[in-house]
Amino acid sequence: MAEKKKIAIIGSGNWGSAIARIVGANVRTMSMMDEEVKLWVFEEILPDGRKLTEVINTEHENVKYLKGYSLPHNVVAVPDILESAKDADYLVFVLPHQFLRSSCQPLRGKLKQGAVGISLIKGFDLKPEGGIQLISELINSLLGIDVCCLMGANLAHEVAAEKFCETTIGVHTDEQSLIFKDLFQTDFFRVTTVRDAKTVEVCGALKNIVACGAGFVDGLGYGDNTKAAVIRLGLMEMIKFAEYFYAGAKFSTFFESCGIADLVTTCYGGRNRRVSEAVVKSGKSIKQLEAEMLDGQRLQGPETAHEVNALLKAEGLEARFPLFTAIHRICVQEISPSEMIECIRMHPEHLAFDRRRVSIERDVVNQYASCL
Ligand SMILES: NC(=O)c1ccc[n+]([C@@H]2O[C@H](COP(=O)([O-])OP(=O)(O)OC[C@H]3O[C@@H](n4cnc5c(N)ncnc54)[C@H](O)[C@@H]3O)[C@@H](O)[C@H]2O)c1
Repeated sequence: MAEKKKIAIIGSGNWGSAIARIVGANVRTMSMMDEEVKLWVFEEILPDGRKLTEVINTEHENVKYLKGYSLPHNVVAVPDILESAKDADYLVFVLPHQFLRSSCQPLRGKLKQGAVGISLIKGFDLKPEGGIQLISELINSLLGIDVCCLMGANLAHEVAAEKFCETTIGVHTDEQSLIFKDLFQTDFFRVTTVRDAKTVEVCGALKNIVACGAGFVDGLGYGDNTKAAVIRLGLMEMIKFAEYFYAGAKFSTFFESCGIADLVTTCYGGRNRRVSEAVVKSGKSIKQLEAEMLDGQRLQGPETAHEVNALLKAEGLEARFPLFTAIHRICVQEISPSEMIECIRMHPEHLAFDRRRVSIERDVVNQYASCL
């Protein structure tokens, strides 16, 4: 009999814990999978003196990051990252991107031959030598494994509550498409797989920048029409960014859950929007509010805005991405949030006539035409 495949989840915050509920339940129905799901937990001592791993393994609940939702008993919290990952055939990376490099160090050269990763992490990596790379590229360069990605309109607490949503998995092979669909799909969490993994990942990272912009206009007291303008202009800059830096990006991917759907959700419901609104209303810094409002959870938007800005600046492209640039400058307190409105007013609308974009649109039209 073939050896059963093993899966490990690297990260156990809000999203890692919500996804562990799904994966833990799904592996039990898959004959090819070992039932045990190892969950790497960055060890913390709770206010009552207990270790978070011990609480998860006895009470089957991540009381710090996903309170009120049980974890399946086959999900086992492991404080040592190498112990959690070394035998795994599938590795789900789901921790704030600022901790990824340091966390992966103990895994270098120690993973199982043929292991495949999937990243649920939103953001970019700022390379020490300059420039940015996708998180999947970082994991690949550190660990030498192929890495897919899962991104979508998936606020963790709603997924944990089993409220219907969709998600997108970017894959490179048919085999990955089949296995990851089985591992993640449920009645309430519907998976679409696409062979455009880089665009899926770019969408997941960039939408957090736009969410900060949405929060700023909320904080300034503007209405839904203004926020819709931020969302629309943000989407246009996301598309332009993908076209410029990731040749071959498919326009249709922006209409999957990872694109427009995640963007809308994040601009209404996510923590980046919430904290950015509070920045305007309280006058406090993002760092201070992150500490006050999020209880250990991390913001991705300001960090991603910084990474993207470093690239745009180096390439002399800041003026072509005025929304991303303004949001970054507000995050680092170079300009005041009220300047967002001027940025929206003055946003250049000639993006639509970029030659490469027109050719991508033509491809999509041709694809649809051939289906008719
Ligand atoms: N929460 C969501 O709704 C959601 C949805 C989709 C995607 N995501 C993405 O998932 C990723 C993980 O986010 P999250 O919400 O699960 O995390 P989180 O912000 O809820 O939790 C922070 C996590 O970081 C860990 N941590 C703290 N210090 C650390 C250190 N020094 N080294 C390593 N780990 C440390 C904590 O133990 C905790 O598990 C992010 O990229 C996020 O953008 C989140």
